[in-house]
Amino acid sequence: MTTFETREALTEALSLHRAKGVSVGFVPTMGALHKGHISLVSRCRSENEVVVVSIFVNPSQFNDKNDLALYPRTFRSDVEKLQAAGCDFLFAPEVEEMYPEEDRRQFDFGMLDKVMEGVSRPGHFNGVAQIVSKLFDTIQPQKAYFGEKDFQQLAIIRRMVGMLHYPVEIVGCPIVREAGGLAMSSRNTRLTEEQLRHAPVIADTLFRSRQKIAHTPLEELKRQVKDRIDNTGGMKVEYFEIVDRETLQPATGYRKNALQGCIAVQVGAVRLIDNISY
Ligand code: PAF
Repeated sequence: MTTFETREALTEALSLHRAKGVSVGFVPTMGALHKGHISLVSRCRSENEVVVVSIFVNPSQFNDKNDLALYPRTFRSDVEKLQAAGCDFLFAPEVEEMYPEEDRRQFDFGMLDKVMEGVSRPGHFNGVAQIVSKLFDTIQPQKAYFGEKDFQQLAIIRRMVGMLHYPVEIVGCPIVREAGGLAMSSRNTRLTEEQLRHAPVIADTLFRSRQKIAHTPLEELKRQVKDRIDNTGGMKVEYFEIVDRETLQPATGYRKNALQGCIAVQVGAVRLIDNISY
């Protein structure tokens, strides 16, 4: 695995491969890699000749500066994991490399970012689009891999790719869970032992809601989900929405295979998200 810190050096190395017509797959990350990330890299490895992974904690997508400061950074062990997973090129730029000047682009995602994370984290998706478009411009992958845990992000990326006409296939990959069901997240490393014991109730409650949705009014189901999690040690549901899987707008009634339940929960100082298909 070769590590690059500048766009120029990575572009040069990739152009040699591209000249030979090889396929380039890309996994963007912010580091603090866990098995969820590695599942993306493995899928990318199996479907492409060249695998590029980026590690960049992108300041423009953090509306909370404290969250940015506390975001876990584990570069050395990330490098080992990526080597073991068969990554060819690691791109790990400094902030100045990606933002030599302020990125003032404003994306219009219609209603996609007017709900859930878009409301809770103003500017977050604009920042995600800024960095992912810069990375796509540099790497020009044929395929790019994103986890379904960030369900709304995946929809936003697909919209951005459509708007900017990038010739890239966006591959959504299933959520990877701990044995108890907790969705893997870099933020889980910030949970205390006690919080780690309680946090699986989030996934458990979502799974239970799947059993109930066909015969429970959606508003009642939403209330039950919130109540159960809010009544578990130190947790507070920020939102739980049942939305149309394509438009992300709140659903008015149950439609088989068309809805997604999306949740954000504050667990002490740590904010976790998860989702489930219905
Ligand atoms: O999902 C993430 O880790 C980030 O939002 C991404 C896509 C790497 C952009 O910074």
